[in-house]
Amino acid sequence: MMKAVSELTRGFGVPTTVSLNAIMVDGTGMCGGCRVSIGGETRYACVDGPEFDAHEVDFAELADRLTTYRSFEQAAVARNEACRIPALAVAANRTAVETGP
Ligand code: FES
Repeated sequence: MMKAVSELTRGFGVPTTVSLNAIMVDGTGMCGGCRVSIGGETRYACVDGPEFDAHEVDFAELADRLTTYRSFEQAAVARNEACRIPALAVAANRTAVETGP
């Protein structure tokens, strides 16, 4: 959708900003998971964005990167795995309460 809007507005010369939904891991600019190409230069959506000039975004690269973990995601769905983050958060909180600050 963002790509389509960008292509439409480019022809009319309308400045357009997009908010990219790149894969993010650490959110600190260190892991590179959210790397995007903006105007031919590497940027990190977590620290440089996520808003960018839509006409400078390499949407083909972004779409490709968004499918990086697709096979792993599909395998997890096939195994009917539930997300383990809530259980890990509860366990971590329990440990913090038991051990104190
Ligand atoms: S989320 Fe890791 S560099 Fe942006």
